Amino acid sequence: MKIKTICCIGAGYVGGPTMSIIAQKCPHIKITVVDVNASRIAAWNDNNLNRLPIFEPELNDVVKEVRGRNLFFSTDVGKAIDEADMIFISVNTPTKTYGKGKGMAADLKYIELCARQIAKVAKQNKIVVEKSTLPVRTASAIKSILDNTGNGVQFQILSNPEFLAEGTAVQNLLKPDRVLIGGDTSTNEGEVAIQALVEIYSNWVPKKQILTTNVWSSELSKLTANAFLAQRVSSINAMSEICEKTGADIKEVSKAIGMDSRIGSKFLNASVGFGGSCFQKDILNLVYIARSYGLNEVADYWEQVVIMNEHQKNRFSDNIVSTLYNTVSGKKITFLGWAFKKDTNDTRESAAIKVADNLLNEQARISVYDPKVPKEKVYTDLDYLNTRSSSENKSLLTVNKDPYEACKNSHAISILTEWDEFKSYDWEGIYKNMQKPAFIFDGRGLLNKGELEKIGFIYYNIGTGN
Ligand code: NAD
Ligand code: UGA
Repeated sequence: MKIKTICCIGAGYVGGPTMSIIAQKCPHIKITVVDVNASRIAAWNDNNLNRLPIFEPELNDVVKEVRGRNLFFSTDVGKAIDEADMIFISVNTPTKTYGKGKGMAADLKYIELCARQIAKVAKQNKIVVEKSTLPVRTASAIKSILDNTGNGVQFQILSNPEFLAEGTAVQNLLKPDRVLIGGDTSTNEGEVAIQALVEIYSNWVPKKQILTTNVWSSELSKLTANAFLAQRVSSINAMSEICEKTGADIKEVSKAIGMDSRIGSKFLNASVGFGGSCFQKDILNLVYIARSYGLNEVADYWEQVVIMNEHQKNRFSDNIVSTLYNTVSGKKITFLGWAFKKDTNDTRESAAIKVADNLLNEQARISVYDPKVPKEKVYTDLDYLNTRSSSENKSLLTVNKDPYEACKNSHAISILTEWDEFKSYDWEGIYKNMQKPAFIFDGRGLLNKGELEKIGFIYYNIGTGN
């Protein structure tokens, strides 16, 4: 079966970049990305590519090449579904904020809405692809909705989880470690659907890197991959606390263990804590699934990864308070970075938010600079916590467009995101304009301790005893 038209529901951090690359590599396929958020679609269609809704290195060039050729962005969800041979569901699956499973389970209401809309609109057979990250066995719920409310149309459900990381999305999509496709391997129709998607990826991904499995393995592999990755960060962060007590250096420990090929060197950077929209949500979801099967030891094991991450964020802000003579009340503290990692404008679950909230509780005044995060986003992130009123947040925290202004007169600088540009700042100039003693709390191990200490800074790094 040859796919000629694709619809992708959800024009977010996954839908946008993923479909841009498929469009680039498959000029023979017409792809329409749809979203209910009209302003997001308008931004994807903006002639000024610097105003695309997400910042992702190299993405602008790809969009420039394919948009209007075989990639289209639209709010007409029904039309795009109707025209498509294959429909990717790439909507958000946040943690539930209400009812049973509140704070743990994935909220599948957006997924269900998509399934119902597909069922309503579809007049010909369709392949529906789960691109969103979903609890294991979600495909059966989607299938049940499609089969019972549809127009007698045949649907095949595939699971094709996305493994891209923000900030490197384009390269991850161009050269994926693997592509995973789960489908109904027990029927001929299922196999045909799987092969249709395999064929799309085969346009640029070597066949041996395209794995096909049953649907449940595919759904669970995605949650497992994120759980393992997040666990590595929590594991190295746990060791960072021991380093600080014992005089060991976490960078030396990371290097030493990473050279063991069974452990590997990637993803061993101690930090102020992992952020991003997925690690926490996916682990909590895994914990919820385990508990719902009565697997309490399994659930407790994975939950500890999230508990450790909360601890890491809290101990980072606690250290700032205790080092600044046990009070930050009225003191200016500068945050360099607000995004959850470099090279993205995404701030979801960024460690900076929690650290700021803790310090604001101590009546600190915070000044934020981030090269890609707009001012309004910083305030929305804080207001969302509901810790204090929006006007209090505005009076206690300012957002600066200029990093040097942000640092002026501050008692301490805190590095929350590992943006490369921070390394080449005029640190001597910054030091001159700060209160003394001038402190740096480097939550990313980004800066050069020796050089900063030579200038006069008192420098604290995660995982290095002072
Ligand atoms: P996102 O919030 O950036 O985008 C989702 C979009 O879906 C939003 O623009 C929203 O308006 C739209 N939407 C929701 N319901 C809709 C509906 N019924 N019809 C049309 N549009 C609808 O989310 P994201 O970061 O792209 O993540 C999407 C999924 O991919 C999640 O399940 C996530 O776990 C998974 N994922 C994300 C990443 C990542 O790096 N962000 C990586 C891999 C997997
Ligand atoms: C992560 C996974 O890496 C992707 O494979 C997955 O597709 C994605 O989640 C998802 O499902 O959403 P992402 O969250 O975009 O990608 O970025 P990562 O590079 O994984 O970083 C996550 C967080 O961990 C960041 O806050 C980062 O700073 C932190 N981190 C990462 C560390 O603190 N130390 C490390 O060594 C690595």
